[in-house]
Amino acid sequence: MNNDKMEKIVSLCKRRGFVFQGSEIYGGLAGVFDYGPNGVELLNNIKKAWWKANVYDKENYFGLDSGMFKHPRVWEASGHTSGFSDPLAECRECNTRIRVDKELEKVGVTADEKMTEEEINRLFDEQRDKIVCPKCGKKNFSPARAFNLLVKSNLGDFTSEGAEPVYLPGEACQGIYLNYKNILDSMSPKLPFGIVQIGKAFRNEISPRNFLFRTREMEQADTQLFVKPNENKDAYEAVKQERFNWYLSIGIKEENLKWKQHENLVFYASDAWDIMYNFPALGFDELEGVHDRTNYDLTQHMEYSGIDLRYTDPETGEKYIPWILETSVGLGRLFLAVISDAYHEEEMDGSTRVVLKLHKDLAPYKVAVSPLLKNKPELVAKAREVFTVLKKEFGNVAWDDNGNIGKRYRRQDEIGTPSCIVIDFDTLGEEQPELKDTVTVRDRDTGKQERVTIANLVGYLK
Ligand code: GAP
Repeated sequence: MNNDKMEKIVSLCKRRGFVFQGSEIYGGLAGVFDYGPNGVELLNNIKKAWWKANVYDKENYFGLDSGMFKHPRVWEASGHTSGFSDPLAECRECNTRIRVDKELEKVGVTADEKMTEEEINRLFDEQRDKIVCPKCGKKNFSPARAFNLLVKSNLGDFTSEGAEPVYLPGEACQGIYLNYKNILDSMSPKLPFGIVQIGKAFRNEISPRNFLFRTREMEQADTQLFVKPNENKDAYEAVKQERFNWYLSIGIKEENLKWKQHENLVFYASDAWDIMYNFPALGFDELEGVHDRTNYDLTQHMEYSGIDLRYTDPETGEKYIPWILETSVGLGRLFLAVISDAYHEEEMDGSTRVVLKLHKDLAPYKVAVSPLLKNKPELVAKAREVFTVLKKEFGNVAWDDNGNIGKRYRRQDEIGTPSCIVIDFDTLGEEQPELKDTVTVRDRDTGKQERVTIANLVGYLK
């Protein structure tokens, strides 16, 4: 059923202009997706809601938009050139690549991120008879080797000979650490303060899969809270609670969310919890990471850059490197969770409808406007009048005159439009003058219709 739901969501996303496979006309590019007209609206509304919660609703959080390319030393200092890898093995029969830690997980064996190639291979060898190639079903694999996930670029490398590679960001948050001193100097914040960014990240994932869940190009929405050393524990709990509550505030159902603590910590973290979402086809899996990164990042960048990144305590004059509490969510995963949570199939008016019951602030369109018949100029003219007024007020208003009214309602249900307005002969007051200048407003979730005067429409929709 859950698998089936994922297929239905992928199909809906294409059919209704939310998400398309990247480079589709060339056969597609694995792990890359494009957001269509309705998708980009939903994505932007998710970003707006996230930004509001993490910048505007706070006092001491600062926004940032850092450049994607960074000095090559950044990825050495961060530990990504040496430690950012997944164990990869290749099927000797059909060349399919597998992620050995994920395959071990499926047979109940946990592979620690800190394990050496040798240690992983020992576990792999013990379990080889249980691990089959997902493509050809054979069990003939090469040994596992550490496969670095950073994506290399040749920025400014016009000779290709011995030039140091520049990488695309493996995680968006490094831009925050690089600008921490600039923000200290320009904004003079006092601890604790946060820096917030939505940025792109790229990973050479061995097996991108499950639609937007595991992609090679992604956007991460990150907050980094800088706190005094040893004042991390309470702040960490508060950050965790706040992030969980935010998902509830955008309409995600509580039963589809839960916490999981990391058993195996990545190289920079002293504690790490994931907010898990009950994804279609996957079940509960990581949606957002909340990490206590200690003073690792700033210590590393201070050492590699030679620049003093310590904070001077305004009260005691003491100098120290703040600790960092990070929250990081991939927007593709969040988009998938939002659509999955909003997706409903239900009976209405004698047939089954698909409806996205999106939170009204997230829906691509606030409202759709339709003339009952598109070949009646007087209806179209009146509908355009209403459309123009609403568009000026709300911006994201759809004009829909395609097919009969029933089809238009079904289409708008699938896009998640909260209200549909129909301009009909009563609006013109031809038979019942008392209904002149009233329209039908139909509610997405209940299907209920109400007559509202055009003069009151903006207030009613607000
Ligand atoms: N700066 C911390 C960091 O990058 P992460 O756990 O590797 O930590 C944070 O990633 C979030 O980014 C994840 O919780 C997930 O939502 C998203 N993410 C990571 N890899 C992803 C991928 N290949 N495709 C889509 N989203 C991904």
